[in-house]
Amino acid sequence: MSDTGLQGRRIILGVSGGIAAYKSADLVRRLREVGADVRVVMTRAATEFVTPLTFQAVSGQPVHTSLLDSDAEAAMGHIELARWAEAVLIAPASADLLARLAVGRADDLLTTLVLATEAPLAVAPAMNRVMWSHPAVAANVHVLERRGVAILGPGSGDQACGEQGAGRMLEPLDLVRRLGSLFGPRPLQGKTVVITAGPTREPLDPVRFISNRSSGRMGFALAAAARDAGAAVHLVSGPVSLPTPAGVRRLDVETAGEMHETVMGTLDGCDIFIGCAAVADYRPATVAAGKLKKGDQRMQVDMERNPDILAAVAASSPRPYTVGFAAETDDLQGHAEAKRLAKRLDLIAANLVGVPGSGFEVADNRLWLRWQGGDCWLGPASKEQVASELIAFIAERFNRE
Ligand code: PMT
Repeated sequence: MSDTGLQGRRIILGVSGGIAAYKSADLVRRLREVGADVRVVMTRAATEFVTPLTFQAVSGQPVHTSLLDSDAEAAMGHIELARWAEAVLIAPASADLLARLAVGRADDLLTTLVLATEAPLAVAPAMNRVMWSHPAVAANVHVLERRGVAILGPGSGDQACGEQGAGRMLEPLDLVRRLGSLFGPRPLQGKTVVITAGPTREPLDPVRFISNRSSGRMGFALAAAARDAGAAVHLVSGPVSLPTPAGVRRLDVETAGEMHETVMGTLDGCDIFIGCAAVADYRPATVAAGKLKKGDQRMQVDMERNPDILAAVAASSPRPYTVGFAAETDDLQGHAEAKRLAKRLDLIAANLVGVPGSGFEVADNRLWLRWQGGDCWLGPASKEQVASELIAFIAERFNRE
């Protein structure tokens, strides 16, 4: 693995009770491979799944399990351990542990240590998919996120209970990568970012719709980059076939009307809004109740305007820092600047569409950024790279204003 930023870092790995605890032994191995110094702290429930001896063998260090163990406290007490850590990662983090962290309990060694440390905290939730979608768990995760805790995952797929869905602990290599990003700059820590992505679909009848070529790649890359910068991210997405970036809250919509309603409902507490979706400007004025039948050689469809979501966000009060996109086939800069002024945006990111190497569907992009008093280019580069540069640029301007 290339430089992870974890070489020589002092990491406490907290392990709570769950079947995914068996993967944490491999996680210790992976962390040590990239040069991290790892100490393991287990909850009582975790020891029911994997023995402390296993973690002692893979970490090469004594494993800490109890607040009330005088021998362990004499060797390295919990306050000393809390001071020693440069980061705390809890993997797996069970629903019970998330609840105890959210209310600030200190009823065992791991939760006490979390309260006693100044090191950044990351949790990798792992639980059954129904538990993960329970509003009580979502509320606890929200509290932790607002407190600056990095929520790594969960991923989706087959679960130990035989079900399928979101709730799997991220794979050890993925966790190592994500943990490394905690040591990089986190300029959007504690901020909330709302991003739109993908196309909208405007129905003509029960089986047909008008849409466009947006794949969602650019918007999803922005969501992952904003998350890595420390933000709590809400991703309002049209119909796309992309997995949700771990740790991002995704809200699926279909039409421009639904996207408008959903975005306006997420603006409370929103610091930054980025409109990357390719929203249909018009929709069929009427939607046929049954499938339209073939008739004359010509067919006319009466269209009416959709709400302009970006302009509505920019006109809202309080107003988030508002970033729009412009997709153009010609006069990129002229059209983008006209949109920035008309919609009263803080920043516009313009890309050419319908050409190789940028815009819809492809893996790469090139953006022209324009704000009051300046402009610059980003890329050409992969959408992931362009997204992380754009998020760094937005964070810099947002934090300055
Ligand atoms: O999804 P990909 O395949 O990765 O492609 C990425 C992209 C080309 C879709 C993306 O980079 C992009 O350019 N998104 C904006 C597409 C667009 O609709 O541009 P526009 O110039 O038509 O709209 C200008 C801005 O107003 C956009 O921020 C758009 O989200 C917003 N808008 C437009 C109409 C509307 N009714 N409401 C809006 O909010």
